[in-house]
Amino acid sequence: MQLSGQQYQIQGLNVLDICQQFGTPLYVYDADVIIRQINNLKSAFNTVPLRIKFACKALTNISVLKLMQTQGIGIDAVSVAEARQALLAGFKPKDITFTSNGVDFSEIQEAVELGVSINVDNLPTLELFGKIFGNTVPCCIRLKPNIRAGGNAKIQVGHEHSKFGIPLAQLPDVHTLVTKYNIVINGLHIHTGSDILDPEAFIQGANVLFTVAKEFPDLAFIDFGGGFKVGYKKGDKTTNMPDLGEKLSAAFKEFCKDYGRELEMWFEPGKYLVSECGVLFVKANQVKQTPSITFVQVNSGLNHLIRPMMYDAYHEIVNVSNPAGELKTYDVVGYICETDTLGSDRQLNEVRADDVLALLNAGAYGFTMSSQYNARFRPAEVLVYKGEARLIRERETMEDILRNQILLDF
Ligand code: LLP
Repeated sequence: MQLSGQQYQIQGLNVLDICQQFGTPLYVYDADVIIRQINNLKSAFNTVPLRIKFACKALTNISVLKLMQTQGIGIDAVSVAEARQALLAGFKPKDITFTSNGVDFSEIQEAVELGVSINVDNLPTLELFGKIFGNTVPCCIRLKPNIRAGGNAKIQVGHEHSKFGIPLAQLPDVHTLVTKYNIVINGLHIHTGSDILDPEAFIQGANVLFTVAKEFPDLAFIDFGGGFKVGYKKGDKTTNMPDLGEKLSAAFKEFCKDYGRELEMWFEPGKYLVSECGVLFVKANQVKQTPSITFVQVNSGLNHLIRPMMYDAYHEIVNVSNPAGELKTYDVVGYICETDTLGSDRQLNEVRADDVLALLNAGAYGFTMSSQYNARFRPAEVLVYKGEARLIRERETMEDILRNQILLDF
């Protein structure tokens, strides 16, 4: 979203017109930003055989998935339903990876039936996988690299006490199972966390993978996970992609020489591809002056964007209705029946009732983590593609609130 004169625009469209047409609260995604981010990643790693698998948990709308598909990237799915959505959007099974965590084995079997590639993150699953599929279906294993990296503690997942991945100390057990059932391990995977700024964390993770990889002769790829840092606040540092690309590619090429074969380098970014593309537009219901704080109460809340309350995440807020208004200090809060601060102590151009506010960088883990809490409808979603704003999800209605509920006849 850009300020052009006195107007905030997305691809030349006045955002107020978009909000007028589709109503608020509204998630709007800019397809150009998604494509730009994909291309940034591709060009940072253009000297190695790169495969990008979009971690679609960040934004699963099927039209966004289809856009990704047209850009020649794949999908990382965390559930069979995500994999099915990707298939529906036009992905081939071979371009989808199922990276589950602690699921019932029937889900893995279902994914194998769909033909998607499988990532296993615990020993009991590996044993069942071996018993049932032997050497007929290859699989990747997720390792726990023992690295603490990532933004908020809740999104650090590569450390010793994390539930994710097979601990390095259990590698002998992996080998026992591989030998016993003749399992073909075609890939190694780590995902250390989200919002990782320090490129060293990626290099450290890579070194763990390169060391372990020497023990597995049938690899086709190494998957370095996701977690690149995006900027939420003005002046925030972000992952320096060209720098990381250069360092990691050099290390990878060196490794492949040692390994004796060129492998594919995989990444599964979520935020990096879709955080910046998304804006959540909300309307100021009223401005409430109190002796200590001026609140802007908006027609949304933690039900639509949980990141501020869940991770203390900062989303920049802009009053798109009054770009020239005098700067004043506000707490922007939702309408939910518990504390749901979207931003506190924010300097905004003067807010009046009915003004539209934009919460920036809301494309990743925004809509996908939304809920119907307080029996509120989830927002509509719009994709701006080639200068046109297209509805890609209708706003929910009372029918959606009642769907699947059963009124007993007492
Ligand atoms: N790969 C795996 C196995 C993952 O679990 C995740 C994210 C990703 C890739 C993508 O990570 P990203 O590039 O988006 O950082 N809801 C939190 C983030 C949770 C991430 C969960 N896994 C948030 O809003 O900050």
